Formats: sequence, C-alpha cells, structure tokens
Amino acid sequence: METTVKILQINSSARREASQSTRLANRIVERLGQAAPDAQVAVRDLSAVPHPVLDEAALGALFTPADKRTAEQAARVALDDALIAEVQAADVVVLGVPMYNFGVPVQLKNWIDAISRSGVTFRYTGKGPEGLLTGKKVYVALARGGLYRGTPADTQVPYLQTVLAFLGMTDVQFVYAEGLNMGPDAEREGLASAHEQIDEVVAA
Ligand SMILES: Cc1cc2nc3c(=O)[nH]c(=O)nc-3n(C[C@H](O)[C@H](O)[C@H](O)COP(=O)(O)O)c2cc1C
Repeated sequence: METTVKILQINSSARREASQSTRLANRIVERLGQAAPDAQVAVRDLSAVPHPVLDEAALGALFTPADKRTAEQAARVALDDALIAEVQAADVVVLGVPMYNFGVPVQLKNWIDAISRSGVTFRYTGKGPEGLLTGKKVYVALARGGLYRGTPADTQVPYLQTVLAFLGMTDVQFVYAEGLNMGPDAEREGLASAHEQIDEVVAA
C-alpha cells in the first residue's frame, strides 16, 4: 500500500529570492517533512516557469477534441495537463500567496484556471457542481504589506476558499503574514505571528 505523503508546493510570488510567501511556504513544507520524513515534495515555482494565461487560443485548444487538435493546441493543453496531474497526485498542497493589488497574483490565477477542468477536477451533477480533487489538505501562506485579515478588503481568503472547495479541497488552513510593509517592527511581528501560526496548524 502507498503510504508516502506527497506534498505539492506552489510558489506564486513574482519574486524568487526575497519572497516572504515562498519562505513561509518553505517553512510549512519543512514542518510537514519533520512530521513525515519520507514525504515526497514537488515544487512548482510559477515565477521561474510562468504558466500561460487562459486566452482565446488556449480556450480553443481546450474545447477542440483531443484527436482534432493541432500540434500547437496539443502542446498548450499538455501544459495544463501537467499541473492537473501534479495536484491530483498530491496529498497535501501548500500555496505561497502574496497580496497584489487586493487580489491573488496573476500566476496563481493562471494555475487555478489551468487546474479547473470540467469532467476532470470538477463535474456538474443533478445536485450541482462536485469537486473531484478530494481528500487533500491545503495550507495557504499569505503575505501582505498591510493589515487585511478578517476585513472586507481581504478578497483573497473568500476567493481561495470558494474556488478550492469548488474543486473538492475543503480542508484549508490559512497562515497570515501581515504588515510586512509597515516598518521593521511591524514586519518582525507579522513574520513572528506567521511562524506561530505555522507551528499551530502543522501538526509536528
Ligand atoms: C505589485 C504589488 C502590489 C501589492 N499590493 C498589495 C496590496 O494590495 N495590499 C497589501 O497589503 N500589500 C500589497 N503589496 C505588498 C506585498 O503583498 C508584500 O510585499 C508581500 O510580502 C509580497 O509577497 P512576497 O514577499 O511573497 O513577494 C503589493 C506588492 C507588490 C509588489
């Protein structure tokens, strides 16, 4: 029986080196690795390898039957297929998510657009939509310059809760690093709080 825990880390900051959300996602994965030393970790860094936007050509490729696609259309669909296969295989998904202009980074949106495929990761039934990416635990490391937790301006959390649940991922823990652009003291406090939250939510 397969018992190895498979962890998928998705980094969505535009920054590769100095990203706080990526560092926090790394920390969550490290903690998970301490609890399950033989865990397999796959990292999808969307700043290193940006995923293409869902444009008209991509939609055309997706809605063309597989045996009728051009080579270019098949290649475009294959890019999405790879992201779907990664998330299907994962037991645990860890998302690193900065706040950009009150929303999620475009790369995270591109990832969500890529993995949301009717008949594959969700389906419509007589009782409404059904998510097919079930049985997964999700951690989301949020990094923000300001303070938005629990306010109407925090559109990220309801959006992510909604779309992840739509896809079947209902067990989601959010970790907030806030006030990161409000001076050194606020930044230190924001990161210390995020580290505490990680210790709390990731069972050691
Ligand atoms: C283009 C851009 C837009 C941003 N928009 C917001 C915002 O709307 N609200 C906020 O609190 N912080 C905002 N910030 C600050 C970032 O959320 C903060 O620097 C965070 O640490 C970035 O994530 P990262 O460290 O993983 O790159 C913005 C930063 C950038 C670069």
